[in-house]
Amino acid sequence: MEWSEELAGGLLQAAPDAILVMDGETIVLANDRAVELYGRARDELLGKSIEMLVTADARIMMAARRRKIEEGRPGPIGAVTTTLRRPDGTEIPVESSVSLVDTPQGRLAVCVVRDLSERARADQEKARLRAEAQVDRNQRLESLGQLAGGIAHDFNNMLGVIVNYANFVIEEASSDAPDVAAIAADAEQVVRAGKRGTDLTHQLLSFARREVVRPQVLDLNQVIADVEEMLRRTIGSHIDLIVAPAPELPPVLCDPGQIEQVLVNLALNARDAMPDGGELVVDTSRHGSQVRLRVSDSGSGMPPDVVERVFEPFFSTKGGGTGLGLATVYGTVTQAGGEVSIASTPGVGTTVTVLLPMSSGSLPDSSDPSEPAPGRGETLLVVEDEEALREVAGRILAGAGYRVLSASCGAEALELVARHDGVIDLLVSDVVMPGMLGKELAERLVDARPGTRVLYMSGYAQPVLHSQGTLDPGVALLEKPFTASDLLAAVRNRLDV
Ligand SMILES: Nc1ncnc2c1ncn2[C@@H]1O[C@H](COP(=O)(O)OP(=O)(O)OP(=O)(O)O)[C@@H](O)[C@H]1O
Ligand SMILES: [Mg+2]
Repeated sequence: MEWSEELAGGLLQAAPDAILVMDGETIVLANDRAVELYGRARDELLGKSIEMLVTADARIMMAARRRKIEEGRPGPIGAVTTTLRRPDGTEIPVESSVSLVDTPQGRLAVCVVRDLSERARADQEKARLRAEAQVDRNQRLESLGQLAGGIAHDFNNMLGVIVNYANFVIEEASSDAPDVAAIAADAEQVVRAGKRGTDLTHQLLSFARREVVRPQVLDLNQVIADVEEMLRRTIGSHIDLIVAPAPELPPVLCDPGQIEQVLVNLALNARDAMPDGGELVVDTSRHGSQVRLRVSDSGSGMPPDVVERVFEPFFSTKGGGTGLGLATVYGTVTQAGGEVSIASTPGVGTTVTVLLPMSSGSLPDSSDPSEPAPGRGETLLVVEDEEALREVAGRILAGAGYRVLSASCGAEALELVARHDGVIDLLVSDVVMPGMLGKELAERLVDARPGTRVLYMSGYAQPVLHSQGTLDPGVALLEKPFTASDLLAAVRNRLDV
């Protein structure tokens, strides 16, 4: 095919960039895009000097280019980034590349001008986002510092209680006439402090969104009924707790533990707002295609500038508050596809409204046994490097009717297995241990004894372990810290499947 004038014309018009052809300084051809970009009619361009189209800055550059145009050989002479000026005064960043062509009419310069304002905008946006991320990061670091301080403080208190009361227990137990009731009471304090520590780590983990969320079809009324007694005791008898569940409430899809956490956080805030007593009302109702949970108190309320910030992590007006309560509520509810809002009037009270999407699923039957079935003499191998935890697990399992072997690391476990004649029904192993990871131990053990099942225990949540390749997805994992019944249920479950 021959290159024709028509074809050249088509090319000129189809190009997404502005194209100007110049004879010396004079514009002799301009495509439609050039008319658009320069904001001038074609006859305002043709026959005019290119000088009038550029800014003062660009003019300096043009001098150098002019020499090239006059002296250079045909072909491209390179691209420059410059700025063009439109009649209305706006300036647009452009990239202009010039090629020299020798034609029968003499030497012409073909100039292709690309509009860079889109790219400049994108660059600006990127820079803005980067700056924002930096601020975010700084804030996060600052918050982390606060958090670490707060946690250290809370844990120190709990450890103080644990160590002191454990010492009382030892003292009393080694006295000549030990008072069993006093020992039990002191031990109770140890357990309570430990439970508070467990709650705190759960709250932190769930705040960090690391904790495994196990959504299930739930009756909110049931969840409330389950924690009602606990809430009543937590808020104290000077506050009236009134629960008003709506009949025939549709189910929601949520993690029951998280909903309990939401209720506890809201109830604690209400308690703090009603030091002299008052009313705490928890009610549910259907709200279109959503289920509404409302927690209202007749407490101090908040001024608008506090309401505005309550969902911010670490925002607290209380001396000892972590400021994570409502932030966690917010995280939980939005993660479940719901919304949360707060209305408050100083001196009157506060209402927190949670809306959760209705679930079309059906409720699981609630006939599952509360106490896990005991062991039937199965042999378990418990591998855990933390000695205290290994002993606790061993005691719980042996007490429930299992035969327990235990080891403190992978190598010791394999040695033990080599010497053990009978079957090993289940390996209960920590995931992250010095020397050999739980995964490798399990693989080697199952290789040697294919009938052995595996249950992992870890302080890290499953997604974290998977993302690091420390554990394969789909394996059974018991999260630490666990209660005796958590452990027994997980073991039974693993043996029975
Ligand atoms: N029901 C309420 N009545 C009055 N003020 C409230 C209520 N709920 C929350 N607030 C205010 O919002 C702030 C943030 O609440 P949030 O639960 O997030 O943190 P906190 O209660 O201060 O600390 P934490 O819950 O971690 O112990 C509180 O410090 C308090 O000022
Ligand atoms: Mg709170």
